[in-house]
Amino acid sequence: MKEGTTMAASEELGIIGVDSFHYFVRNPERSRVFYEHGFGWRPLVRAGAKLVADTGQASTVYQSGDVRVVVSTPESDSCRAARYLKRHPAGIGSVTFSVEDLDRTWNFLANRGATPIHPIVETREDGGRFRHFSITTAIGDVAFRFLQRTDYSGFAPGFESVELDPAQRAPTLGFKKVDHITNNAPTMAPVKLWFEHVLGLEQCWEIEFHTNDLNPTGANSSGTGLKSVVMWDPRSGMKFPINEPLQPFFKEGQINTFVEDNAGAGIQHIALEVEDCAGAVKSLREHDVAFLQTPGSYYDAAPARLAKKSVDVTKLAHKMDQLRELGILIDGQPENRYLIQIFLQDAATFYSEPEAGPFFYELIQRCGDPGFGEGNFRALFEAIERDKVTA
Ligand SMILES: [Fe+2]
Repeated sequence: MKEGTTMAASEELGIIGVDSFHYFVRNPERSRVFYEHGFGWRPLVRAGAKLVADTGQASTVYQSGDVRVVVSTPESDSCRAARYLKRHPAGIGSVTFSVEDLDRTWNFLANRGATPIHPIVETREDGGRFRHFSITTAIGDVAFRFLQRTDYSGFAPGFESVELDPAQRAPTLGFKKVDHITNNAPTMAPVKLWFEHVLGLEQCWEIEFHTNDLNPTGANSSGTGLKSVVMWDPRSGMKFPINEPLQPFFKEGQINTFVEDNAGAGIQHIALEVEDCAGAVKSLREHDVAFLQTPGSYYDAAPARLAKKSVDVTKLAHKMDQLRELGILIDGQPENRYLIQIFLQDAATFYSEPEAGPFFYELIQRCGDPGFGEGNFRALFEAIERDKVTA
């Protein structure tokens, strides 16, 4: 660094992207079927016997593109997975970020009051180095881990490669990477302040709305609302929306319901970028993956909503009829830049089991729009409410 210059917070944090995320479950076979049969992902590695004995949990890593999920299930009462699952239904317990310079990230976070769970752990294998540390977060029991591999080609120490089942279909659905990570909390302020003051991220967007204003006569006796801010890391482009409930009907609202079902703040959804959202949705539906239903009124209103943002839906590569048929949402920005996205059903609903947890995935395809579907926040809530009112 040149004398007299200072590094931006984003540069000092040095996140490259999401390396992986850790999903704690009690039913690993169900996860295997979901990732292999549903998503068409392949098992990459599995925790070896020594690692299972050391950590007390069994783990399998599934991968497609640059997306890796570590699915862990307890083998002992004191392991991290067991401790998480004693307090919560199945869910995302940690997110691992790859960073440019682990020491720089450590120093930056230490100076800003981060709370390490352990010091930097280093493993040297086959001439390479695997170094990482973890911190607690303001998102309930979620931990963030920071990782640097130097000439290290494996996933992590103690993991062994998995022999592929020849019957397993090839991962052809074009999953690319984690796009954004959305958190729900009973109150947003401490989470937002933590992202800002500890991680050094910046706020890039905010909104609050409630669907009860659709009926100004006051005849509505229900509705759902939220307040949301989006924190982002300008360098890597990683975005972290944070939602809190908005009264009236606080208790019944979508965000409070998540917090109650999850027994505290947590990661509500992870958005995965895909190359061809329409093709992926078609294939996923054929493989028993369930999505949120989008009411027809959403598509009736979409052309006018997008026209206000200078997006002409007749000029886009994706046609509205196709999106309507597949239940895919659309948002855009001037000059016909747009994105399409769809939300999977949450695990508890999909499996009809509260212990499966309220987490869900989003699929997103970017056609020039770097946002995260800002327009769909309100549009989808309104459409659902309108359908309820007219039903
Ligand atoms: Fe999202």
